[in-house]
Amino acid sequence: MGHLNYNPLEVGENVDKWHVDTLRIDFVMFVTDPKLVVGGEFEYYRGTKHDVAQLSAAGEPLDPSKIVAPDMPGPGYAVLQQGNMVVHRAKGLREAGERITMVNGYVPRDISFPDFSRFDQLYLVDPKDVAASEYTRHMSWMARERLSADLDSFAFSEDKEAMLKSSNNWPI
Ligand SMILES: [Fe+2]
Repeated sequence: MGHLNYNPLEVGENVDKWHVDTLRIDFVMFVTDPKLVVGGEFEYYRGTKHDVAQLSAAGEPLDPSKIVAPDMPGPGYAVLQQGNMVVHRAKGLREAGERITMVNGYVPRDISFPDFSRFDQLYLVDPKDVAASEYTRHMSWMARERLSADLDSFAFSEDKEAMLKSSNNWPI
């Protein structure tokens, strides 16, 4: 499900800190024109989240030469990313203005792909009834797709170990 991110009212305050997302694939699309504001860049780090965790644990800053701010020509342009792998942030505006982005999430068609959805993180930012309901619906959807995939590829045999392994491999 998509959501909108609004810039803080405080000029200079970052929209968010460096982070990875808690879903598998998502895009960040500029709704407002990024050329009409000063600042508010979308930035990503040309290093792994493990690199960033090591730097953070050592109290070291990120390497500025590895910070990339892709040129966003106008509203409607987006960055697509493997959400929980790419360390990124939205910088604050350096002058008063409006910065709105839309983030939309996707689920791989390969149902065995691990699910990085984080209920605890959702619960921090969304109304609790919304977060609980959306997460439950998501998990029901994933369970349905996994069961369908199992039924579609089901093979009769006596290999109970393989059957047990298959059901234990659920990504949810
Ligand atoms: Fe993000």
